[in-house]
Amino acid sequence: MASDRLDVLVVGGGAREHALVRSLAKSPRVGRLLGAPGSPGIEDDAVSVAVDSGNIPTLVAFVDREKIDLTVVGPEAPLVAGLADQLRYRGFVVFGPGAAGARIEGSKAFAKEVMEAAGVPTAHADVFTEHGPALAYLHKHGAPVVIKADGLAAGKGVMVAKTLAEAEAALTECFVVRRFGDAANVVLIEEYLEGEELSLLSIVSGDQVLPLAPAQDYKRIFDGDEGPNTGGMGSYSPVPSVDDVLYERLVDEIVRPTVAEIVRRGIDYRGVLYAGLMLTDHGPEVLEFNCRFGDPETQALLPRLQSDLLELLWAAARGETLPAATEWSNGPAVGVVMASGGYPGSSSKGDPIAGLENAWAVNGVEVFHAGTHRGSDRILVTAGGRVLTVTGLGDTFAQARARAYEGVAAISFAGEQHRTDIALRAEEWESRR
Ligand code: AMP
Ligand code: GLY
Repeated sequence: MASDRLDVLVVGGGAREHALVRSLAKSPRVGRLLGAPGSPGIEDDAVSVAVDSGNIPTLVAFVDREKIDLTVVGPEAPLVAGLADQLRYRGFVVFGPGAAGARIEGSKAFAKEVMEAAGVPTAHADVFTEHGPALAYLHKHGAPVVIKADGLAAGKGVMVAKTLAEAEAALTECFVVRRFGDAANVVLIEEYLEGEELSLLSIVSGDQVLPLAPAQDYKRIFDGDEGPNTGGMGSYSPVPSVDDVLYERLVDEIVRPTVAEIVRRGIDYRGVLYAGLMLTDHGPEVLEFNCRFGDPETQALLPRLQSDLLELLWAAARGETLPAATEWSNGPAVGVVMASGGYPGSSSKGDPIAGLENAWAVNGVEVFHAGTHRGSDRILVTAGGRVLTVTGLGDTFAQARARAYEGVAAISFAGEQHRTDIALRAEEWESRR
């Protein structure tokens, strides 16, 4: 380090990484800020480096050449593939777990094993490596049931089957069609749980846990939670139905025991531990763990964060003492995802995007780029399924929602689709008080 300024590289180019970059850019301690591969949005605050987030050798060579002080890894795939290990091995500081810790997301069977050892409540699951025994179990068990590919499947490896026929089809996808490749060499058949979903992200460094504000995301494409699962169509934070008592309980009964078990296994975890929870009638249960910031939760979390994100990530990545708590703006944030036509089945690319400046001009609105591209003509076009997250901040959910949707209304592209009910239940909850 030449000065006490830190040169920071954010790996990944989605809306989550855009939110990370915007938040890091606010730190008085930030030096050079870079994004690999970056995005047209990230370029407002950072320099894009044309290296894909999956290209580990080139990323390592870049960090080495540029003597990057802190690498912050957004997506799960490079973490599971050992990017953090390769950098740490060379003496570089990284926010994100090594491959051993990232298995908590990279193998759902491993995550179950950790939860069982830690005594953490989770949906019961049986593990299969062959079609025949899986089918036999299914016929004995019946539906509804959830079929999960063990490995990473770009968020598509979880199939909630309401009927036996749907469950059989899911097993065919895994074992016969092999739609998920080796990620479904191992398949979990899991108990179906009902309740409200909640995302609780914590910054973890060794045995230290710093829980962040709770968030909720919306997985289905259509209003009223209808239609197929997506990468996430919106989110909000905080979650008014989660009071302090429940929050403490989630941290003490789920997050801390899981981290203790990770430590017991000799894993030095430095990054985000994301608990995907279902609040059932008989108590909270874990649906999944992720080894990274959530998308789109991050787009609703970080705009509210008052603490210096860079200081937090730097301390966690170096194994230094984490602060006891984080500071947040009092008002909530609501993030609405704007997706391209055909999503999630397909996605229309190359459609010009208009009105971004008008959205930014709305008081309390921030716009995060996911699938956008700026060609040589400088025109911004769509380049993926999820195109933008428009986040509204306000004093109340009613105001934050109104602002987010005013931002959404200002932006247009062909085939655009978004949900109109993001954070509606939080607004209704608020109005009943
Ligand atoms: P996951 O990637 O494990 O969070 O699964 C994606 C989505 O599938 C979750 O957000 C839930 O909506 C749903 N899901 C996963 N596991 C279960 C389960 N055991 N019961 C009901 N829904 C589930
Ligand atoms: N919001 C779900 C995820 O990040 O996996």
